[in-house]
Amino acid sequence: MAILITGGAGYIGSHTCIELLEAGYEVVIVDNLCNSSHISLNRVAEITNKTFTFYKMDLMDRAGLESIFARHPIEAVIHFAGLKAVGESVQLPLSYYHTNMTSTLILCEVMKKFEVHKLVFSSSATVYGLPEAVPIAENAALGATNPYGRTKLMLEQILQDLAASDERWGVSILRYFNPIGAHKSGRIGENPNGIPNNLLPYISQVAVGKLTQVNVFGDDYPTPDGTGIRDYIHVVDLAKGHLKALEKIKAGSGVDIYNLGTGRGYSVLEMIAAFEIASGQSIPYAVAERRPGDIAVCFADTEKANRELNWSATRGIEEMCRDSWRWQCSNPSGYEEDSFVLHELAAGNYHKTAQ
Ligand code: NAD
Ligand code: WQD
Repeated sequence: MAILITGGAGYIGSHTCIELLEAGYEVVIVDNLCNSSHISLNRVAEITNKTFTFYKMDLMDRAGLESIFARHPIEAVIHFAGLKAVGESVQLPLSYYHTNMTSTLILCEVMKKFEVHKLVFSSSATVYGLPEAVPIAENAALGATNPYGRTKLMLEQILQDLAASDERWGVSILRYFNPIGAHKSGRIGENPNGIPNNLLPYISQVAVGKLTQVNVFGDDYPTPDGTGIRDYIHVVDLAKGHLKALEKIKAGSGVDIYNLGTGRGYSVLEMIAAFEIASGQSIPYAVAERRPGDIAVCFADTEKANRELNWSATRGIEEMCRDSWRWQCSNPSGYEEDSFVLHELAAGNYHKTAQ
């Protein structure tokens, strides 16, 4: 039986593919590469020395998706694919609503048609909006502040309605906090297009000399050093959480919602200091205006995931920064072709690509 990974070429998806392949799962990936590169998948093959199947396909291609379900014995889906940039979602709301909502609806319809009822869904701590208190538990009040967040909130609701309609559905909604870091090999990592929006990719591009200084968005928050506090989680810990969620839904039904974070927050200035230590580089910064929509403090209550999934994050901030730095230094321009893997690909040893 196979696991279908949508968005598997992306940042979190590629790390999760490694964990799945190393755990012995058969993996089928669908990604239109709108925010990723096929090279990440070459490197997944290289790291794991395992084979998998990749389809370069838009999830909105219903007929294409149906042909994948017809061809592979898919038992569950991990659904990462979607657009994720908060600022862009404010500029392009129709694009965000269309892509995130329609693709998920088509995916669920095709799953229903092929009687595949197990789904792990990528949600986000963004669904907590302006949290009333920290740490944030799964039953905290919800409320999104931008179109991206609203797509996640609406999709969570749709998945709950779907599961309520047929008890064969088993859905795990995972609310990620702030994923950072990279695989320890330094071969895959986060590869943002253009100037990064998120703090860690920005810091690492300053450290490597691509950007001149970090703009610290506000130092007048009600936090010990005045800068925003977030719950940064190593992407490999996050990926491992998906395997635990998958095991749980395979055995049960209904909807479970879990926070995936560390339960600990770090400020912007603490992250800059940690990255300076990890990289040995000095990281200039300047305090700038607050970024509209930002909140002061956000970190997870992880007790439910610890207890019900038997999962907890084990990698600390030093390892997160060290692994991000290894990825950044060895791939200063992001993903570039590798002659070794292309040769292996030509020999058909790693993965097949179907258009
Ligand atoms: P990513 O952009 O690296 O990966 C998403 C992948 O989906 C990309 O490879 C992209 O090409 C693909 N994709 C997008 N639309 C598609 C479509 N219509 N058809 C097929 N493929 C499509 O993002 P990521 O950081 O790996 O995030 C994965 C998921 O986790 C997303 O749903 C995101 O909203 C969610 N999430 C991410 C974060 C974060 O900070 N990275 C935090 C919380 C939640
Ligand atoms: C972290 C902290 C900023 C950049 C976002 C999305 C969220 C989720 C994760 C998808 C904040 C500060 C940032 C910079 C800075 N994604 N900062 N200078 O905003 O917590 O979460 O990514 O679901 O939905 O909103 O992450 O990394 O952008 O910011 O000072 O150049 O760093 O103000 O305090 P955020 P972030």
